[in-house]
Amino acid sequence: MTAAAPASQDILKPHLEIQGGNRLQGELRVSGAKNSALVLMTAALLTEDTLTLSNVPPLTDIDGMESILVSMGVKVRRSSETIHLQASDLTSAEPPYELVNGLRASFFAIGSILARMGHAKVPLPGGCRIGARPVVEHIRGLKALGAVVTVEHGVVSATVPGDRKRLKGASIVLDCPSVGATETILMAASLAKGTSVIENAAQEPEVQDLANLLNAMGARISGAGGPSITVEGVERLHGCDYTVIPDRIEAGTFLLAAAITRSTMRIAPVVPDHLNSVLQKLRDCGCVLEFDGDGIVITPGTIKGIDITTQPFPGFPTDLQAPFMALLATAQGTSVITEKIYENRMQHVGELQRMGAAIRVQGNAAVVEGVPSLSGAPVNGTDLRASAAMVLAGLVAKGRTQVSGLNHLDRGYAGIEAKLTASGAKLERHCS
Ligand code: UD1
Repeated sequence: MTAAAPASQDILKPHLEIQGGNRLQGELRVSGAKNSALVLMTAALLTEDTLTLSNVPPLTDIDGMESILVSMGVKVRRSSETIHLQASDLTSAEPPYELVNGLRASFFAIGSILARMGHAKVPLPGGCRIGARPVVEHIRGLKALGAVVTVEHGVVSATVPGDRKRLKGASIVLDCPSVGATETILMAASLAKGTSVIENAAQEPEVQDLANLLNAMGARISGAGGPSITVEGVERLHGCDYTVIPDRIEAGTFLLAAAITRSTMRIAPVVPDHLNSVLQKLRDCGCVLEFDGDGIVITPGTIKGIDITTQPFPGFPTDLQAPFMALLATAQGTSVITEKIYENRMQHVGELQRMGAAIRVQGNAAVVEGVPSLSGAPVNGTDLRASAAMVLAGLVAKGRTQVSGLNHLDRGYAGIEAKLTASGAKLERHCS
C-alpha cells in the first residue's frame, strides 16, 4: 500500500484493484475472438437455418449483439460458450439506435440484413474516442452491389431495387483495407447474383474466419486472407456448426502480461500466423518464444526499447499498441511507437505517465523512455485496449493500482481477473 492515496471520485467507480509486483506462472487460456464472433453472429441473418457457433467469448459486446439480433426476430439460445442462432422469421430490418450505438460491429450487419431482406435501416455507429471511424467504404461497397443507400438523421437506409430484391455482383476497389467494410461486403455479396471481386480487401484473420464460416454455410468465396477476394454469389445459404478462432489480441495481451512481469508462461490456444508481427516485436525486445503444441511459451529476458508502427494486418495491430506501450515503459532504453490506423489513440499515455512512465507524444508517435519501475496509481482505461494496458502496468507497478473504465475492459477480456488471479496475480474487482 505504498501508492499515493487515490482521488475519491476514482475509487468510487467500479474498478480493479491490483497489487503489483507478483510474478505470474502456469498458463493463460485464450478465449474465442471477440471481433470474429460478433461478425459471425450477424451471418446468422443470411439463412433461415440454425447457425451454431462455439468458442464464443462471454463478453458484454456479445450480449449486446445478441440483443440486436433478438430485436430483429432472431431466436437465440446460449449455453456456456456455444450460441445457437435461428433467423427463420425476421420481424425487423431496423436494429434500434440504443442497441447499435457503441457496438461498431453491429453496423456491419447491414450487409446481411440487406442481402436477406432487400432493405435495411441501421443507425450509424456511435462516435469513438480513438478516431473518426467512418463507414463510407461499407456504403460505397453496398452501392456498387446495386443498393440504393441514403443517410439521413444519422441512419443509413439501404434498399435493393427490382422485384427479386437481389443484389448484383460487382468489382469493388476499397480506398483503404477496412476490416468492417470487407466483412459487410462479403456478407452482402455472398447472396448476390453473379460474381464480386473485392480489391484492397482487409487481410485480418477475422475476415478469413468470416469467409470460412460463409463457405461452410454454402457460399463460394476464395482469396480471403489476401488483398483480392472473389465471391460467386449463391441463391441460398444453409446452417452449420462452426468454431470461432482464438482471440489474437487477447493472446497478445497475455504474452505482454508475462513479459511485463518478467514471468515464464504458456499462452494457449494461439494461431502463430495470426500474431507474427507481434511475436517478432516480442523477440526484438528480448523475449524467447517457443511453440508448444497449440500454445506459446514465453520467457522474457532483459526487455530493451524497440520501435513499433501500427499497420493493417499482417502489420503490427493497432489494438496491441497500448498494451505494448505498457511493456516498453519498463524497458531499458528508448522506444518510438507510431500509430498509423487511428488519429486519436494515445489517451493511455497520460494514464501511464500517472504511474511514472516517461513518455512524450509527438504527433502520432509516442517516444517512450524506459524507467526502472512504475508505481501504482488510480488510472482510467479510456477505451478497451487502453484499459488492458492499465491492467498490465498495474501488474508490475510498485504498490496498488486502481483501474477504472471496466465497462471497456469487459467488452473484450472474458473473465480477465479470474484468469490472471489463477496465474498468481493479485487483483480483485470492486463494484462501487
Ligand atoms: C476493426 C476491429 C478493431 C480494429 C480495427 C483495425 C472489429 C469489430 N473491430 O474495426 O478492433 O482496431 O479493425 O484493425 O473487427 N476507415 C476509413 N473509411 C471507412 C472505414 C474505415 O477511412 O469507410 C479507416 C478508419 O478510420 C481507420 C481504418 O480505416 O482509420 C481502419 O478501420 P477499419 O478497418 O474499418 O476498422 P473496423 O472494422 O471498424
